[in-house]
Amino acid sequence: MILNKKLIVANWKNHPNSSTDAVKFWNTAKRSVSSLKKTELVVCPPMPYLALLARTLPPKKIFLGAQTLSAEESGSWTGAIPASMIFEIGGRYVLVGHSEERRLGLTDQDIGKRLAAAFRVGLHPIFCVGESARDSEGAFLSVLSGQINVALSSIPRKFLSDLIIAYEPVWAIGKAEREAMNPRDLHEMAIFIRKTINDFSGGNSNLHVPVLYGGSVGAHNAVSFLSEGTAEGLLIGRGSLEATSFRELLSSVDSMK
Ligand code: PGA
Repeated sequence: MILNKKLIVANWKNHPNSSTDAVKFWNTAKRSVSSLKKTELVVCPPMPYLALLARTLPPKKIFLGAQTLSAEESGSWTGAIPASMIFEIGGRYVLVGHSEERRLGLTDQDIGKRLAAAFRVGLHPIFCVGESARDSEGAFLSVLSGQINVALSSIPRKFLSDLIIAYEPVWAIGKAEREAMNPRDLHEMAIFIRKTINDFSGGNSNLHVPVLYGGSVGAHNAVSFLSEGTAEGLLIGRGSLEATSFRELLSSVDSMK
């Protein structure tokens, strides 16, 4: 998928604590994007707030995404959240394979089925990958290529061109900004991820899969991941709920050359 703009994805996780605050955050986000020219924002609130916020969705530059979905279509699946329902209430993106779900036992095979379910209804899945730890022998690279190859083997080939990857090294999530990944290392990882997907596709040189970076992104380091790190967007947890610095982050990303 070719992104015409930088894609900033706000992952609210299970915050804030009330729907009133969720509406406040949402209104602030809508105001922040009104002046953006080269940046789009996807807000992924907790599921109970998604339908509420979707009622006031403005037409451009800001989208809603879900944090999870089920692989199953609608039917007798207690607790499942079908992709079709997310789409119907106004969600356009969905996070798939976030490390906080992997930690609860989500497998690469499950992730592949969820990716396929999202694609089938026209939702844009943001496929999250990332190693838990680094080792000097480079075994973490096989972890990463394994995550990608196993999950992608469940999706019909025609959907590969709609894929968006979010590379989130687990060791860099939820830290101080200075403990995030070094942008030079991110650049190498982005090359590795693009090559892994290209090899998976059998060397299709027309295939372009955008790579976003996530893990302790804030107003001070955001631009470096996009410039030096060559990411095409960012997946931001905690930093997306700090209204003033998030507004600064959006405007600094938007003013990049
Ligand atoms: P963080 O979270 O920005 O708080 O590190 C990112 C994520 O888990 O998606």
